Amino acid sequence: MACQTQAQTQDYWNKYFKDRDLQQINFDEIDLSLPMPEEEPFRQYYSIAKARHYLRRMESAVGRKLTFCVQTFGCQMNARDSEKLCGILRAVGYEEQETEEGADFVIYNTCTVRENANNKVYGRLGYLHGFKKKNPHMIIALCGCMMQEEKVVEKIRQSYRFVDLVFGTHNIFKFAELLVQTYEQSGMVVDIWEDTNEIVEQLPNERKYSFKSGVNIMFGCNNFCSYCIVPYVRGRERSRKPEEIISEIRRFVADGVIEVMLLGQNVNSYGKNLEEPVTFAQLLSEIDQIEGLERIRFMTSHPKDLSDELIEVMAKSKKICRHLHLPLQSGSSRLLKIMNRRYTKEHYLELVDKIRAAMPDIAITTDIIVGFPGETEEDFEETMDVVRKVRYDSAFTFIYSKRTGTPAASMEDQVPPDVVKKRFDRLLKEVQTIAAEKAEQLTGQTMEVLVESVNRQDPGLVTGRLSNNSVVHLPGDESLIGKIMNVKLEECRGFYYYGKLVV
Ligand code: 5AD
Ligand code: SF4
Repeated sequence: MACQTQAQTQDYWNKYFKDRDLQQINFDEIDLSLPMPEEEPFRQYYSIAKARHYLRRMESAVGRKLTFCVQTFGCQMNARDSEKLCGILRAVGYEEQETEEGADFVIYNTCTVRENANNKVYGRLGYLHGFKKKNPHMIIALCGCMMQEEKVVEKIRQSYRFVDLVFGTHNIFKFAELLVQTYEQSGMVVDIWEDTNEIVEQLPNERKYSFKSGVNIMFGCNNFCSYCIVPYVRGRERSRKPEEIISEIRRFVADGVIEVMLLGQNVNSYGKNLEEPVTFAQLLSEIDQIEGLERIRFMTSHPKDLSDELIEVMAKSKKICRHLHLPLQSGSSRLLKIMNRRYTKEHYLELVDKIRAAMPDIAITTDIIVGFPGETEEDFEETMDVVRKVRYDSAFTFIYSKRTGTPAASMEDQVPPDVVKKRFDRLLKEVQTIAAEKAEQLTGQTMEVLVESVNRQDPGLVTGRLSNNSVVHLPGDESLIGKIMNVKLEECRGFYYYGKLVV
């Protein structure tokens, strides 16, 4: 009998939903008297329909619309995941609000790359508890990288019992289903997976900006740099199929998107594990041909995997932005080896030369860690040497943070905090001085700016970005948002510009 019901369910989904585009699905048409389908994404469509039903009941009980607030910590990958969470919450029927205060559903999408990211979340949870005491309907959910750590979940179970839902990075596609479980079950719902091979396509998602979007091309990381927790919390590398990526971008473009940011922890190893392997450069060439798309960005590039083929594709393209984020981490070949980065200082510098020879106007940015275990003054000077030789357009500098479970956490010779702080300050000063000198060189030129928003401080100005990712403020109004304009860079203020429209 159960078998027959499952077969009927399958028939039903095949008949009504199989080849329908997500946009054409009316969740209220879904027959909730049938059991939940096994197959994805139908299982999530069914869950959205069920959650809509519960939400309506709650709304009529309280006599008002219920609201949600998604707070994102960490990287662009998390920002994109948050857009997916927003898409589901909207499909369920919640209305968005920007702050946690008074929201009926609050979710923190967490980061754990450095210890201070974790501390921030614990601090904010205490503050959320205050709101929950005043609003009995409030649901608090936690997801993202931090939840993939066993000791974190244990702490939440014990000390933050008012949290309603906890899930991780591998099962984020199940959010709608977990939401239903939270409505139906009393007590905390916790669902953490160790890893997954699954990539579920065709789920609702949202875009923060109408004219630009992040696009995941791969998930996870296989590199195991010895300081980094990402491979443990984001799992093994999995690439999306090129046709899925291309058709998603085509849909975005049809909907007004002109810039995409291709996202992956290590985009240069894209496609290696697909059934029919494809290189990142090949993927880029295909995306480059999408009509209506104006700008293509990507991050992050691992120096060890950056191919000549990629440099060639970038140099030829008019759409691929003149910006490359190329994390250095350290300039000392000795430390790079212990970090398991699999390149040397010399290899990195040669790569930069090759990139600059092909694209003299490219902006190169980086990530640098100060105070990795065993870092000597000589090692640090090697880093300063690379900074002076490469002359980065900007650099994110981080103080090494010990992440339990990574090989570096048990290395002896952790560098004393006062030594790290002094080196960090020296590095920051050097990086900022060089970045300001580099930015100054463009002053007076007229360049294309994609206008992104009205300036927060001064509503008479709008703010946008150059192809090389630098920020430009110029007089203008809302009507310019989403347009690429010619702008004369009149004044450089360190790392951003003031400009004016050239017509
Ligand atoms: N401590 C400090 N910085 C780190 N990063 C990754 N792990 C750590 C850590 N344990 C930095 C690297 C990486 C960026 C995203 O975060 O520089 O490129
Ligand atoms: Fe972490 Fe290295 Fe993977 Fe980047 S490439 S996410 S630093 S392990």
